[in-house]
Amino acid sequence: MIERPPSRARSLPILEIAPPPATERRSGTEPDDARLGEFRPEPRALPRFYVWTLGCQMNRSDSEEMAGRLLTAGATESPTMDEADLVVINTCAIRELAEQKVIGRQGHLQRLKDANASMRVVLTGCAVRERDRDGLERRYPAVDLFLRPDEEPELLDRLGLASAQAPVGVVGATTVVGRTVVGVADHLATTRAAAVDAGTVQRTSSVSAWLPIIYGCDKTCTYCIVPFSRGPERSRPFDDIVAEARSIAASGFREVTLLGQNVNSYGHDLEPDPRFGHIRTERWAGRRLDLGSKPDLAELIRAIDGIRTSDGVPAIPRLRFITSHPWDLSDRLIDAMAECPSLCESLHLPVQSGDDEVLRRMGRQYTTEHYLERLERIRAAVPDITVSTDIIVGFCGETEAQFEKTLAFLELVRYDQVFAAAYSERPGTPATHLADDVPAADKRRRLNALLAVQEPIGLERNQRWLGREVEVLVETIARDRSHEHDESGTDGEGSVPRGVQPGPGQVALSGRTRGNKLVHLAGDATWVGSLVNVTIGHAGPYALRGTPVG
Ligand code: 5AD
Ligand code: SF4
Repeated sequence: MIERPPSRARSLPILEIAPPPATERRSGTEPDDARLGEFRPEPRALPRFYVWTLGCQMNRSDSEEMAGRLLTAGATESPTMDEADLVVINTCAIRELAEQKVIGRQGHLQRLKDANASMRVVLTGCAVRERDRDGLERRYPAVDLFLRPDEEPELLDRLGLASAQAPVGVVGATTVVGRTVVGVADHLATTRAAAVDAGTVQRTSSVSAWLPIIYGCDKTCTYCIVPFSRGPERSRPFDDIVAEARSIAASGFREVTLLGQNVNSYGHDLEPDPRFGHIRTERWAGRRLDLGSKPDLAELIRAIDGIRTSDGVPAIPRLRFITSHPWDLSDRLIDAMAECPSLCESLHLPVQSGDDEVLRRMGRQYTTEHYLERLERIRAAVPDITVSTDIIVGFCGETEAQFEKTLAFLELVRYDQVFAAAYSERPGTPATHLADDVPAADKRRRLNALLAVQEPIGLERNQRWLGREVEVLVETIARDRSHEHDESGTDGEGSVPRGVQPGPGQVALSGRTRGNKLVHLAGDATWVGSLVNVTIGHAGPYALRGTPVG
C-alpha cells in the first residue's frame, strides 16, 4: 500500500461543512509490485468536475465561467456526472418542472457520494434564494454547498480551491456572518472582466459566444422568480463589454449573443458619461427612467458592430440579443437594428398573453396595443425580421374568453416561433397571492390548442423562404439515427432529418439563418463554423431544408 501525500490526495474542503471521513479515493488498482510505484501516474490532487446546466442562455454562460475557473485552478473536466468528484448543478427555477428534474436526481447523487466519500455537490442558479436555505436543504439533501447566482464567482473560494494551483484573478467578496451570507455581490461585472482578461471563460462553442451585459431583473412580472433569484439589474461597464466583444472577434467567433434577463434595459443603472451626452431619452413606458448621458443597448450594438476587419466588414458577422421587454424596445434600438449590418434580423419579444386584463394581473405594465405598435414599427424598419415570443397559458383567473384572445393575438401577429408554457406557481412570487385556479387539465388543453393554432402559422412563415437564397451559419453535424427507428418526424435538431441525403464524403449538417431559422443541409464536415449560402427547397413548421449554392 503506497502512502499518498495528504496535500495531494486531499478531498474537497467546503467552508461551513464538516470534512468527510478520510477514506480511500476511487483510483483503480494498486500495483502488485512495489517497484512499479514510481511509474504510476501522479495521484489526482484536484477534483474532476462536471457541470450540469439547466435553463436559459444566461445559465449556460454562467456555467462557462464556472468551468473556466475550475480549469484554471487545475481541476479537470469529467465527461460524466458519475465519474466526477465535484458536481456543480446550475439550476433553473422558472417552472416547478425544472426544479423537479434536479430534485429527482438527489437519490442518484447520494448513491454516488456513498461510493466516493470525497465527492461534493454544489447547487447554484435560480433555485437558490437566500430566504429559502432550510427548504433548500430539505429539497436537495445530496447538496453540500448552495450558491446564489451572484455568489458563483466565489465557487473556488468556498471549495477551498482558490489558492490550490494557478492564480485565479479576482474572487468574491461575500462575507459570512454565522450562517448568514451578507454583502450581496456587486462584483459580478468585475469577476467577469477578470475572467475575460485572464482568458479563462470556458466557452463551449467555438462558433457562437454568449456575452452577458446585464445581470438581474427590475421588472414586476407577478409570476416570475427571476427578480428574487437574480436580484436587481446591474449593467456591466460599457468598455468591458466592448473589450470582451473585441477578444471574441479576435478568437474567430462568428456569432455573439448579448445576454440579459432584460437585455434591452441595459445601461440605466450606470453613471452618466459625457461620451454618451447625445443620449437624451427617457423611458416612457413602465416605470419612468432618466436615461440621459448613459449608454444603452443601441449604443452598445453600434460599438460592437463597429469592430471591423481590415476590409471594413463587421469582425463578428452575427450579433443577437435576448431577452427583450416591450417597455424597453426604444426607437433608438429599432434604428440600430435597422442600420447595423451585423445585427441579425430576428427578435424575441415575450408577450405572455393577448389579453390586457391578464397582462395587468401579470404585472407586465403594457397593453397589447403598446406591444403591437412596437412590433409594427420594428417590422417596418427591418424587413423580413423574424419574431418569436413566450406565452403563459392558464395564469391565475384566465378565463376561456381571455385565452381565446391570446389565440386571436397569435393569428394577428403571426409569430415565427412561440414558446408556450402552462403557468406554474412559484413560491415567493407576488402571484402566489392570486388563486392558481385554472385546473391542470384546462392548462394542458389550452397549451395544445395554442400549439395547434401556431403550427400552421409557423409553417406559413417558413414557407416564405422557399426558393430563396439564405446565409446559414453551420453549427452541427447531425447524427445518423436511422437505425434507432426515430418516428419523431423531420425537424429535430441533432439527428439526420428525412430528406437530407448526404452524398459520398458528405455529412448531414444543421445551422441557422440570420432570422434564427433552423436549416438542414448536406455538405462537407469542415463547413461547421462557416457561413454557407443555401437555397431553401423545403419548409416544415419547425425547420427548413436547403441545398448549398454552387
Ligand atoms: N410559469 C410558467 N411560465 C413562466 N415563465 C416565467 N415564469 C413562469 C411561471 N411561473 C415563462 C415566461 C418567460 C419564460 C422565460 O418563462 O413566458 O418569458
Ligand atoms: Fe431559469 Fe429564468 Fe433563471 Fe434562466 S433566469 S435560469 S430561465 S429561472
